[in-house]
Amino acid sequence: KTIYLSEYRVPAYLVDTVDLRFELFEDGARVHSTLSVRRNPESEAGAVPLELDGDSLKLESVSLDGVPLAQGQFEDQGDRLVVSQVPESFELTVVTWIEPQNNTRLEGLYKSSGMFCTQCEAEGFRCITFFPDRPDVMSRFRTRIEADSKSYPVLLSNGNDVERGDLPDGRHFVTWEDPFPKPCYLFALVAGDLVEKRDSFKTCSGRDIDLRMYVEPRNAEKCDHAMDSLKRSMRWDEEVYGREYDLDIFMIVAVDDFNMGAMENKGLNIFNSSCVLASQETATDLAFQRIEAIVAHEYFHNWSGNRVTCRDWFQLSLKEGFTVFRDSCFSADTGSPTVKRIEDVTLLRTAQFAEDAGPMAHPVRPSSYMEISNFYTLTIYEKGAEVVRMIHILLGPEMFRKGSDLYFERHDGQAVTTDDFLQAMEDASGRDLSQFRRWYEQAGTPVLEVSDEFDANACVYRLSIRQQIPDTPGQTNKQPQHIPFALGLLGNRGQALPLRLVAGEVDAPAERVLELTETEHTFEFHGIDEHPVPSLLRDFSAPVRVRYPWSREQLLFLMSHDPDGFNRWDAGQRLAVDVIQELVGASKDVAVDPRLVTAYGHLVSDASLDQALVAKMLQLPSEAYLIELADAADAPAIHAARERVVKHLAIALRDELVACYRRNAESEAYQVTPEQIARRSLRNTALSWLLLINDEEGRELAVRQFRDADNMTDRMGALRALVNSDYEDERDRVLSEFYTRFQDDPQVIEQWFSVQAASDRAGSLPQIRALLEHEAFDWKNPNKVRSVIGAFAGQNLAEFHRADGSGYDFLAEQVCRLDDSNPQIAARLVTPLTRWKKFAPAYGERMKAGLELIRDKSGLSRDVYEVVHKSLAD
Ligand code: ARG
Ligand code: ZN
Repeated sequence: KTIYLSEYRVPAYLVDTVDLRFELFEDGARVHSTLSVRRNPESEAGAVPLELDGDSLKLESVSLDGVPLAQGQFEDQGDRLVVSQVPESFELTVVTWIEPQNNTRLEGLYKSSGMFCTQCEAEGFRCITFFPDRPDVMSRFRTRIEADSKSYPVLLSNGNDVERGDLPDGRHFVTWEDPFPKPCYLFALVAGDLVEKRDSFKTCSGRDIDLRMYVEPRNAEKCDHAMDSLKRSMRWDEEVYGREYDLDIFMIVAVDDFNMGAMENKGLNIFNSSCVLASQETATDLAFQRIEAIVAHEYFHNWSGNRVTCRDWFQLSLKEGFTVFRDSCFSADTGSPTVKRIEDVTLLRTAQFAEDAGPMAHPVRPSSYMEISNFYTLTIYEKGAEVVRMIHILLGPEMFRKGSDLYFERHDGQAVTTDDFLQAMEDASGRDLSQFRRWYEQAGTPVLEVSDEFDANACVYRLSIRQQIPDTPGQTNKQPQHIPFALGLLGNRGQALPLRLVAGEVDAPAERVLELTETEHTFEFHGIDEHPVPSLLRDFSAPVRVRYPWSREQLLFLMSHDPDGFNRWDAGQRLAVDVIQELVGASKDVAVDPRLVTAYGHLVSDASLDQALVAKMLQLPSEAYLIELADAADAPAIHAARERVVKHLAIALRDELVACYRRNAESEAYQVTPEQIARRSLRNTALSWLLLINDEEGRELAVRQFRDADNMTDRMGALRALVNSDYEDERDRVLSEFYTRFQDDPQVIEQWFSVQAASDRAGSLPQIRALLEHEAFDWKNPNKVRSVIGAFAGQNLAEFHRADGSGYDFLAEQVCRLDDSNPQIAARLVTPLTRWKKFAPAYGERMKAGLELIRDKSGLSRDVYEVVHKSLAD
């Protein structure tokens, strides 16, 4: 069944207050829910029956205004409770029985490592009790939790704890009250034996906020980084957006079994352990940065998501796109802005562009869906953030801030739409964003074809830009979009040329943001007396593909001269892509372009360059990105070509790499600073390249680094380099040493799984199957599933795309297996197969066969059904 945006109707009934009482036991939980309900004055539906959503509930009783309803006065339809005759306003009490201990879907109330916890977004609250489970029904919640005092000393829910006490039989209770009306997807409950870490924050208006983290005792020492990130996020949101925290308590809980990264429940954020717990010994630099970003993201939702929420799930990007934009600016302010931009764009161009070109392509504001869980996508999150970023570019920082102030003020306490967001931006700035709205409505990545010509006699440089938006499922003949296009022009000594759009313009800027609104534009730059090198789409000012016939000489020139750091990096990527593509499927006689060696040699050796940027520039384009760029992709051939280039560079630059390693290996007290991150990244890149060419000194350095490292970045860097090398004995030895050392730490073991599963050396299919049998593997834990199956199908591309199709069949088999226990995770694992049209027919047909295998499984979940059927549709 498909849900359409066009069918949106306001709710027929509103729920002003919700009074919940949870009796938690080992064999289940009883949920008493009392709702004060009234007919919605804005609804035209009139005196219709009351309909509440439900899922996997055992209904025990229903009463209306205190009077139990008899059979016939209500109907339990399983996924719906219908009460036919209800007054204008009334109290409804519903008692349900649920079994959290058997909840493997991890939606609603479930158990994870002995504790009770919840995940209600998007539609998990209906797995707890019957309720109008839609975000435009906002209520004040009061929640009483009762449980055994010994096993569950900590009982948490949203808001403030207002009452607690003991009960008979060694049980106790705590009552929580949340003063802010909220949709039920923001409800949360936690009960467990957890340690509490406390801190505090003084807000800009002088209020003291109690900050508390709750984790399992063994993780007590892994909270500092998240707590520190939280305090910096709170300050940042005050300074940059004028947003102050509103409750007296802010809580963070870490749970091991979690479908996603984290959840912004009001005052009680719940995190996947891997997205919040960190220590120097157990978390890599990447993990530290990820945690900082996710803590900020969930905190920022308190305004962009909670105080102002979504009217319906088609508006998901209203909160997600905006909040990703906010957390990304926060990370940029904290670390290196250029590096952060490179990381965001890498993800966007590799994964979101692929999504936008695949069978699940959808607009930032979709117009239909079958299962909303499938729409927590890179398009909603990452492209959505790019769309907000373009508004920021078009309006400028001051007007953007005026717009966000107006948005928060106008819609505080409301459930609204992406149009309301744009309207506030328009009203505050006076800018017309009507054409810009198409970014929300049209799917697909716009392609910009750029061509130029230099008229030496007239001293005019002409740039023509043609935009075209590809067809996507259900959408053809798209209208041109409003695109901010930042650019500069470089003269042949590397100098920035003034951009005169009219002849004789004085004080012309060296960089401009051109606004593209038509299918085709031609811009003339005057007073240009040499053929310039264009630096296009600076800082990636719009989520588009740019096609321009750069010569390799021009790219080399931009790599060293472009004042825009992002474009310097991008020129290097384009050059490397060009060189690798030339070698895909080519004979050994085709040489690796020596200019690439020269350019990389310069990067490796010149310590005066910005080392953070150099560390990024040395990362060759990933296989996944090369596949995304290819037409009829041959993954093993792409893998081979890419590896050939790395080996070629490593052999040619062998001594420089050793020197680079040593230069960046000096020991210093571990800190997560951009400088140190860059140094560790450089030395680990050097190490991995040296090992790829079986360099003896490299092997010694790696083994020593593995043993002596005082942090996970270096230990993992050495482990990864050895695992991906041909030193088989060493590989087995370090893998088992690593396991022995960290076997009690699930987050580290997840990294240990994925380094093997992602490796073409350690991750052949029999080895992957062995990992699934490993004592530390757990089918019920999404992180474990992702770290083996997800890493294999998503990163170990040469093995996954074996010509015999065994990788595809393997994935299909695991998806079917997981579909019964956790459909959300199963649906996500299918993703690599959905891209079958991207690959050469020999591969594509086998991938399609894998999808058909899944399609034919009986009792397929709605989640997997939607993905598989859309992928197989023509
Ligand atoms: N709102 C959460 C976040 O982005 C994600 C929740 C995802 N839940 C889901 N069922 N897909 O921070
Ligand atoms: Zn979010």
